[in-house]
Amino acid sequence: MRAPSHAAAILLAAAMAFVCALPAAWARAPQAAEDLNPEAASGTRDRQLARAPHFMMVSANPLATQAGDEMLRRGGSVVDAAIATQLVLNLVEPQSSGIGGGAFMVLYSARTGRIQTYDSRETAPAAARQDRFLDAQGKPLPFAQAVNNGMSVGVPGLLRGLELAHKEHGALPWADLFQPAIRLAEQGFAVSPRLHALLAGNKALPAQPAAAAYFYAPGGAPWPVGHVLKNPEFARTLRAVAEGGADAFYQGGIARDIVAAVHGHAVPGDLSLADLAAYRAQERPPVCGGYRGYRLCGMGPPSSGPIAVLQMLGELEQFPIGSYAPGSVEAVHYFSEAGRLAFADRDFYVADPAYVPVPVSALLDPAYLRARGALIRPDRSMKVALPGDPEGKLLSLGKDDALELPSTSHLVAVDAQGNALSMTTTIESEFGSKIFVRGFLLNNEMTDFSSSYRDPEGRLVANRIEPGKRPRSAMAPMIVLRGDRPYLLVGSPGGSAIINYVAKTLVGVLDWGLDIQAAIALPNMGSRNKETELEKGTPLEALAPALERMGHPVRITEFPSGIHGIVIGPDGLQGGVDPRREGLAQGG
Ligand code: DON
Repeated sequence: MRAPSHAAAILLAAAMAFVCALPAAWARAPQAAEDLNPEAASGTRDRQLARAPHFMMVSANPLATQAGDEMLRRGGSVVDAAIATQLVLNLVEPQSSGIGGGAFMVLYSARTGRIQTYDSRETAPAAARQDRFLDAQGKPLPFAQAVNNGMSVGVPGLLRGLELAHKEHGALPWADLFQPAIRLAEQGFAVSPRLHALLAGNKALPAQPAAAAYFYAPGGAPWPVGHVLKNPEFARTLRAVAEGGADAFYQGGIARDIVAAVHGHAVPGDLSLADLAAYRAQERPPVCGGYRGYRLCGMGPPSSGPIAVLQMLGELEQFPIGSYAPGSVEAVHYFSEAGRLAFADRDFYVADPAYVPVPVSALLDPAYLRARGALIRPDRSMKVALPGDPEGKLLSLGKDDALELPSTSHLVAVDAQGNALSMTTTIESEFGSKIFVRGFLLNNEMTDFSSSYRDPEGRLVANRIEPGKRPRSAMAPMIVLRGDRPYLLVGSPGGSAIINYVAKTLVGVLDWGLDIQAAIALPNMGSRNKETELEKGTPLEALAPALERMGHPVRITEFPSGIHGIVIGPDGLQGGVDPRREGLAQGG
């Protein structure tokens, strides 16, 4: 285990923490869809480390954090707090997550000492066909066409997952957890700067009549910042689920309206009542690995996120990253080379394990990762990494071409009993499919499948669309253990860039000894096995010439992460929120 931070690293990190406001950019450059940001940037704010002695809630919106904090103060568990927080997020941060989508929850139970993971990922409708997002010539549809389409909607999973976790770990009654969101939906909440900015920048949302009527003023202008927006329809939906459980969503009137909205879209989808009735959340084994004496656990397949993060760290472990300052050419070089190696594997191997055998242990084998990491040269970029072949099966698989343009939120919580929770939750793209029904938005998670089911060489892609299958995710909710106790909780939105956001934060705390706030604020960087990406408007931009001399193809880009984390230290809890979003850490 490393000694706490050295002064140089802290100074540099402080200098690199954001003080400048990034310009809002809505226009998307002509770049591959998977490299684009799922949600637009909306500037940054200076943030302080939060502290609390016993319990803490961190989420992307103050009203949502306060709902979770209210449950924790009443003796609720982390699951109670996460549910209350999530329901408010659905209302106040509707662009990112909600009951029309899905989530992955990672939980440390103080009672059993076990890590558990809950998968409430959306599933493909039973009628789904493998050519769902291909045009008449067999070419992938442009992203905007695939997303704003009834076919993008997968069977929502969130409420089933929350219900499953609550049955095992809830301390407060289910219906109580809905009260803060019902209250806010009825009384109204002030539209935040980020919500306003995203409404103003989105062209597809006002084109959907139900969404337009709620999110925009009668003349078509986005509701201004501070406008008190009420959502009585969502309050009625929440009341029904508070009283009837998740069944009230998956069967009956709400289910019928969801199906009607999907089928009523200009490009109708194929979601059915039977799909909704058949949806099941699943508890799965966590994936875990070691790094510098810590044990790190997260959600396994169908997520590729924690596997890729663990691969990056496993490949980096043989290099003295802790001795390179954050923001140095060396740190960016080694970090992005490890990203190349991990993304190369991710594109071939990870999909829904019920449909495709995923070689998780082989991909995380320390000897395999050491050998992969040894491919990193100290002075030259490999530019594009080839996938490894830990089980001799590579030739049978094709490369994924998922569009990966999502929208998402991450929350973390610790309760007074010592339980810990890390959950990433999503409706995929900004405002999901834009289909608004009963006061909430439906996801476009089907676009997380590979658009093509065979690669150009004719090999089947692991993450191809199949009926009932869960699309591969990059979401990486993680819990780091020190000994057998939770030490650090972390995760982020950001599409495939999530993997680099989470790995950066882990290196920031575990190698550079930064506090969680400083680690989150570090400029984002890394490679998704294409360019070496550096966050725009940060001191990293100045490294471009030196990196280019080493052969790195450099791209300067906005990186609107939403990293939220808690460190559980001997002196209590420390919480960090992403300066790029609007979150709040609060506890007691
Ligand atoms: O599951 C996934 O990987 C994506 N649907 C996550 C989307 C996301 O992070 C969007 N972020 N802003």
